Amino acid sequence: MLDRLETTLRIRGGARLEGSVATHGAKNAALPIMAAALLAKGTVTLHRVPRITDVSVMWSLLEALGARMRYEGDNTLTIDASNVASYRAPYALVRKLAASFDVVGPLLGRFGRAEVPLPGGCVLGTRATDLHEQAFVALGCEVHNAHGYLIAESREGRLRGATIEFRMPSVGATKNAMLAAVLADGTTTLKNVAMEPEVVDLANFLVAMGAKILGTGTDTIVIEGVDELQGVEYEIIADRIVTGTLLFAGAVTRGDVTVRRCNPQHLQAVVDKLAECGATTMTGDDWIRVKADGITGGTDILTAPYPGFPTDLQPQVVGFLCTCPGTSVVEESIFNARFSYVNELARMGADVRVTMESNAAIVKGPKQLSGAPVEAPDIRAGAGLVVAGLAAAGETEIIGLEYIDRGYERLEELLSELGGQVQRSSGVTPLVEPAGFFETSEYPRISA
Ligand code: EPU
Repeated sequence: MLDRLETTLRIRGGARLEGSVATHGAKNAALPIMAAALLAKGTVTLHRVPRITDVSVMWSLLEALGARMRYEGDNTLTIDASNVASYRAPYALVRKLAASFDVVGPLLGRFGRAEVPLPGGCVLGTRATDLHEQAFVALGCEVHNAHGYLIAESREGRLRGATIEFRMPSVGATKNAMLAAVLADGTTTLKNVAMEPEVVDLANFLVAMGAKILGTGTDTIVIEGVDELQGVEYEIIADRIVTGTLLFAGAVTRGDVTVRRCNPQHLQAVVDKLAECGATTMTGDDWIRVKADGITGGTDILTAPYPGFPTDLQPQVVGFLCTCPGTSVVEESIFNARFSYVNELARMGADVRVTMESNAAIVKGPKQLSGAPVEAPDIRAGAGLVVAGLAAAGETEIIGLEYIDRGYERLEELLSELGGQVQRSSGVTPLVEPAGFFETSEYPRISA
């Protein structure tokens, strides 16, 4: 059996990407929606769940809490949480996935108590939880940290509605506050919330289960607590970050790529930036096409909460901008340590300088990148190195493929469909986790 560092992605750069490819379901919608299934009285059936290792970790976590999980084939899974009896999440799983913290809200809604390990930091920077805690306290919980765990409890059992104004929009805190409030007694008003499509998708899922939620997609959400929520069948939205990655992959090769089964409205900021660089962009109801033979220059980027340019596409756009004429400045406003991959890009011949004072990368192009062995430090940084590798002369071998597999379902196949020369270094099945999720799939399984 291979260990995690031995499975790599090999890219032979220079092939022009052409054609069309369908994107898969959104990781960051699937994870909280799976957690939300803890609130349902009946069975939840989810379609378009991506087969990625982050989903398999959430699967294992829900199973550890007592839920019955079943994979139905073709990205459909069912969750029966009726037997869940534990409100304590095991550290061994939570440490692998910051999004595990999404179970706090549902556990509070269901049991009035939750014990979940604190995410602390990760490779992207601090993962603070003060806004989550602010919401739990406002909803009537006592909250304290003990031995690395966040322990939240409502002495009355049921949480009570409240008005909460966040100092900044947080995706995670908005999700957790919503998840905790849907079964609370009375009305909850959440102000200055995140407007990300994944937050809206979670709300739509909760509404399908019987929750009463108004205002999602705006900066204020109003929730009328209900007594119970039902099982439901639901399809996860398209992954806008995978879609954006494929668009930058097309653009970096000066190709002509159409991404199907996506929501173009979710990627307006990305489409605008590609157009600013000289690409021709077209959109339909559920597709985006980028034709990049006329790239004229780079552009400046500021990552920002939705509908701004997504931080999760920052490394991919930097990979692309390395090949564009002129100087581009890419400023990161969400995470404080998201440029660690830049040293790897430099090893490929990129001219990128990071200024710590402004948390920005100054990218000078155009550069002919050269293929090199590089290491992916996280999911999106890995995708950024893939984008760069597609334009590099010769072979790029990316170590740390297990990070890419956390968020991308068979990225090498999506790129191969477009004519990219991208291969997993081995077809051997590495670690399996959990067995059930991949049961009927021949796709290699990677540990998280
Ligand atoms: N923050 C606080 N206090 C809090 C919560 C957050 O200060 O209580 C800070 C964080 O430290 C961070 C910033 O606010 O610097 C953004 O955090 P947010 O809560 O908005 O993000 P998240 O829920 O931790 C989700 C996605 C990330 C994505 C961000 C921003 C999931 C599972 N994760 O993280 O996705 O980058 O929103 O859009 O939904 C990825 O998919 O690769 C990924 C990192």
